[in-house]
Amino acid sequence: MQNKKSLNHLAIIMDGNGRWALNQDLPRTAGHAAGEHSLSRSIDWAIENKLEWLTVYAFSTENWLRSEEEVDFLMFFNRDILIRRREEFNQKGVKFKFLGDLTDSQIPEENKKLMIETEEITKNNKTLNLVFAFNYGSHNEIHKAVLDLHNEHISENLKLNDIENNFYGFFQYSDMPFPDALLRTAGEKRISNFLLYQLSYSELIFIDTLWPDVNGDILDDVLLEFNTRNRTYGRN
Ligand code: IPE
Ligand code: IPE
Ligand code: MG
Repeated sequence: MQNKKSLNHLAIIMDGNGRWALNQDLPRTAGHAAGEHSLSRSIDWAIENKLEWLTVYAFSTENWLRSEEEVDFLMFFNRDILIRRREEFNQKGVKFKFLGDLTDSQIPEENKKLMIETEEITKNNKTLNLVFAFNYGSHNEIHKAVLDLHNEHISENLKLNDIENNFYGFFQYSDMPFPDALLRTAGEKRISNFLLYQLSYSELIFIDTLWPDVNGDILDDVLLEFNTRNRTYGRN
């Protein structure tokens, strides 16, 4: 499969782990565990297809509303993946970035430590920027950018033009280009508080496949679909 190079940044809402597990009479947590393989297949696929950015939604600011058992598992699981696999991804040239509010006291200290360490260990890697949206919510991200902008320019009489030119600079990773495409798995057709600002001109692709069943062939089809889209950005 040829990536025409126009797909530089793919963002993914990895959805359907719970349904995958329930379909097989397994606990929901088994679906999250199975999703690890799809994540590593997606990273390999992104590297093969020369994407520069892959952003994955791992835990939303709303996911704290799940059962204590599931939240505890997801915190454990996110630590465990980093402990077991970060060296392998590091060898592949993956640069990790954790997008989201890591100051939240609900996140176990051990998770925070591992995420900060992983960013540091992989910071010079060049093959793929892997953005892990963890405790991420787009509203939270936008509100924080507004507050930071306000604090920095507190005594100035800002004009709309100043905001238009500088606003994205107040986001956590303002070097992150806007996604070319957003993929959501598992049939839901909504954004669920993901990258609301950055998705302004992304191609939206929804597939029914549950996240644990995603593999390179399915991502090839997503790329084919993306390549059929005519991106006009308001022009004719
Ligand atoms: C996505 O799968 C993973 C996370 C939100 C962490 P879900 O757990 O939302 O799976 P479904 O949507 O219930 O099937
Ligand atoms: C979005 O999926 C969050 C992640 C994939 C981490 P959800 O399953 O939590 O979203 P809703 O509840 O279907 O909107
Ligand atoms: Mg879901």
